[in-house]
Amino acid sequence: MDANLVGLAGKVAIVTGAGVGMGAATARLLAARGAKVIVSDINPATANETADAIRADGGEAHVVICDVAQESQVEALVAETVATFGRLDCAVNNAAITPDVLPIHEADMAVFDKVLNVDLRSVMLCMKYEIRQFLAQGSPGSIVNIGSVSSVRPQATNAAYVAAKHGVIGLTKTGSLEYAGKGIRVNAVLPGAIDTPMLRGALETTGFTEADFAPALSLFGRFGRPEEVAEASAWLCSDASSYVTGHSLAVEGGYLTR
Ligand SMILES: NC(=O)c1ccc[n+]([C@@H]2O[C@H](COP(=O)([O-])OP(=O)(O)OC[C@H]3O[C@@H](n4cnc5c(N)ncnc54)[C@H](O)[C@@H]3O)[C@@H](O)[C@H]2O)c1
Repeated sequence: MDANLVGLAGKVAIVTGAGVGMGAATARLLAARGAKVIVSDINPATANETADAIRADGGEAHVVICDVAQESQVEALVAETVATFGRLDCAVNNAAITPDVLPIHEADMAVFDKVLNVDLRSVMLCMKYEIRQFLAQGSPGSIVNIGSVSSVRPQATNAAYVAAKHGVIGLTKTGSLEYAGKGIRVNAVLPGAIDTPMLRGALETTGFTEADFAPALSLFGRFGRPEEVAEASAWLCSDASSYVTGHSLAVEGGYLTR
């Protein structure tokens, strides 16, 4: 595909949680469409694998190790992005951790706090420093926050994750309101059941298989592929979505229609 046609050529993008799963697929797709990509993850080994794959495909990538729950590390992530590629144009705030699996009355509040930190507070931190950079550059920018179908539909025994992912929509809408006047767009992507290490981990925990789960979680009766979600994030990062902000785009095989 011609990168100029999709409005990503030469853009500088950050993808958090880009070592595996949807983050890795998104980093690879953005690079394939001409963006210079900061591959960020808490795990150096997998982050380097993603960056190596991008370079092997002829793309540009630079690894920044960052725990998105730590403010100083998120600030440093944006600073290293600018030091490396000179600017920031878009970001996919994707990193998150697996849900807790206990009912509310048995909740371990240390787990609750951890999930809220990694899955929600991190999105606030990323937006804070990404938007600061857009404002400092005096240029438009696009942020994509990765929510979930759990951003709009609760799941039993997942209170922390559901609360965090509902919050992601609140942050997305607030960001879109505050910065539209500066040309900064903030949107969310809400994946359904997507075949990644996170979902495979959940299957292991519950003992279910794809055949047990997929028909209830998708009108297509199959899990989604990380690349199918990456397409939505890439479009929202690009100039092709220039009139879209504050939106939550579900990529869930029709799960939310019933
Ligand atoms: N897989 C699904 O079915 C599904 C469904 C709905 C939403 N989501 C959301 O999509 C996003 C990606 O999910 P995935 O399935 O690809 O996840 P994954 O667990 O397969 O990959 C997550 C990546 O994030 C990294 N990470 C974890 N904690 C981090 C931290 N503190 N700082 C930086 N990086 C960290 C991990 O090292 C890993 O590389 C997440 O926001 C997740 O909540 C996933």
